Order: sequence, then structure tokens, then C-alpha cells
Amino acid sequence: MNPFMENVIISPSILAADFLNLERDIRKVEAAGIKELHLDVMDGHFVNNISIGFCTIAALRKATELNLDVHLMVEDPDKFIDRLHAIGVNSITVHVEVAKHLYKTLEHIKALGMESGVVLNPGSDFRNLTYLADAKVLDRVLVMSVEPGFGGQSYIEMSTKKIADLAAWRDVNNYEFTIQVDGGINLDNIATVVEAGARNIVIGSSVFNKGLIKENIGSLTARIAKL
Ligand code: DX5
Ligand code: ZN
Repeated sequence: MNPFMENVIISPSILAADFLNLERDIRKVEAAGIKELHLDVMDGHFVNNISIGFCTIAALRKATELNLDVHLMVEDPDKFIDRLHAIGVNSITVHVEVAKHLYKTLEHIKALGMESGVVLNPGSDFRNLTYLADAKVLDRVLVMSVEPGFGGQSYIEMSTKKIADLAAWRDVNNYEFTIQVDGGINLDNIATVVEAGARNIVIGSSVFNKGLIKENIGSLTARIAKL
């Protein structure tokens, strides 16, 4: 196994799953050896879309032992954290563009025993995360490689440099957060984002495409294995 494979995980975004057959799709994801599911929560305000909420996440929690990672695309993330914790999710990421008291929010997520993270829109910089990283309240940084809100969009090319810059900044400062990437990842660019430094690769369309979940995950994994 090459050094990349040991540390990289693919995190399927269920936004692209078949919602009429969600359990079937989750079982296929489990059978493919996946460890974490990416759950996109939207409120119709921060982004122009509405996706899943507490009911679906609670049902998923009962159905699977996979890590549940919640990506909050909502205007007021603080309203959601305690309920998501009560449901039993494993990690929560909040957008830097809306969270007004980021330290408090992240500290709260960690105090509840979950992994915490921030999400950066394509236009948002990571350098103002210095104090959060110093304070060790940052387990993950999620780099959006599309504008959030919808699956199936094209990867924004400058994201590769942003991931590489973020990884270099982390390493030079001895920070330990994991870099996630989300949006437009496919067979053509998965190796590129891994080489740039991403280790948690969120993928919707390219995992669930045509319901061929096992085959799609196998092909994506093979691309990283070749590195
Ligand atoms: C977009 C979501 C993503 C999305 C990714 O706002 O955050 O998680 O589901 O889907 P693809 O891989 O199709 O871009
Ligand atoms: Zn997402």
C-alpha cells in the first residue's frame, strides 16, 4: 500500500444518493469499505437549496455505524449543534463566512466529544484561521472546490493551489488538522487533490453515478493507489 492510501478516505456525499432507496445505497457504501458519510445540511438561506435535516440524519444514525460528518450550510450553525450531537453524529463543520463566534462554536463542538471543522468557500482565505489552529479547536478544514449548495458542479481549478498552500501552512506551523475537499471530485482530479494534501475526499456524483457504487468507489480508489 502506498503512503497516500493509508491516510486518505473517500467520504460519499449522500446528496447524490437515491433517496427512495437510501438504505440500499448506504449498504453498498458500507460494503465498499467506506468509513464516513458526508451529510450536507442546507437551510435555503446560506445556499439556495434545502437538503436533509434531523429526521433523515437520525434515521441514518440508527441504520449505520459509519462516521457521520455533517457539513452545515446554514446561516446560524449554533442552532443545530446540540441536536446533531443528541442524534449522535461524529463531526460537524461550519462555514467561516457565517459563523460569528467561531472559537466558541468549535470549542462547543469539541466539548461535546465531536470532531470540529471549518469550511472555506472558494473565495475565503485560510490564513485567518491562525488563532483557531493555535487554540487546537480545529480538527478539520474543508476546502470547497465548488460554490456550496448543489452537487454535480465542476471542480474550480484554483482549489488545487489552495489545498497545497493550506497543507504547507499547516505543516510549517505544526498544526494537525485534516484537509477535506468537497465539490466536483472525479476520476480525473482525485489524484491531484490527494497530491496537493487533501486526505478526506468528499464525493457525491462520482460515487453514486448510475447506482454503480461499488464500481465507482473501486475506480476512484484505484486512481489514488497508483500514486
Ligand atoms: C455541495 C455539497 C457537496 C456535494 C458534492 O454544496 O457540499 O458535498 O454533494 O457533490 P459532487 O461530488 O457531485 O460535486
Ligand atoms: Zn458538502
